[in-house]
Amino acid sequence: MIELPLRKIINSEDDTTILANEFSKIVELSDIICLNGNLGTGKTFFVKEFCKNYKINNVNSPSFSIVNEYFGDANILHFDFYRIKKIEELFDIGFNEYILRNDTIIFIEWANMFQEIIPKKHYEINIKIIDDAKREFTINKHE
Ligand SMILES: Nc1ncnc2c1ncn2[C@@H]1O[C@H](COP(=O)(O)OP(=O)(O)OP(=O)(O)O)[C@@H](O)[C@H]1O
Ligand SMILES: [Mg+2]
Repeated sequence: MIELPLRKIINSEDDTTILANEFSKIVELSDIICLNGNLGTGKTFFVKEFCKNYKINNVNSPSFSIVNEYFGDANILHFDFYRIKKIEELFDIGFNEYILRNDTIIFIEWANMFQEIIPKKHYEINIKIIDDAKREFTINKHE
């Protein structure tokens, strides 16, 4: 079982997969997971590997669609705030209704761009590139 707060050096994609698998064991339906970190750090990769634990194999980046929904052993919503210019765009697609769901795991890439609309209770994952496939992951739980 992973213990939070966590700070871990990851050396390969396989290590990211192992961390995503471990993390999936502590996540409950209704949890919100914010993923922050620069372009290409591995936010979408992490969601993809996490979702395989729920028999979901069609994860892709929602940077153009803003939100993807996946159906498997759990329902999972996957947001990406990167291309959002104004917070109103999120309200227009029903963000406030989505966020109230208690039967869905919710991932938000680039959540820190609109931190003000993130509920207080959430997991925060930060990823930094060290080099090549090496990353520093931190995971915190906010209550
Ligand atoms: N240890 C690692 N963990 C995750 N991804 C890795 C790792 N090493 C290399 N990669 C590669 O880094 C890339 C990460 O791309 P990904 O789309 O997941 O980034 P992102 O953080 O979602 O970017 P964006 O901000 O554009 O959405 C992938 O091509 C992946 O194969
Ligand atoms: Mg991404």
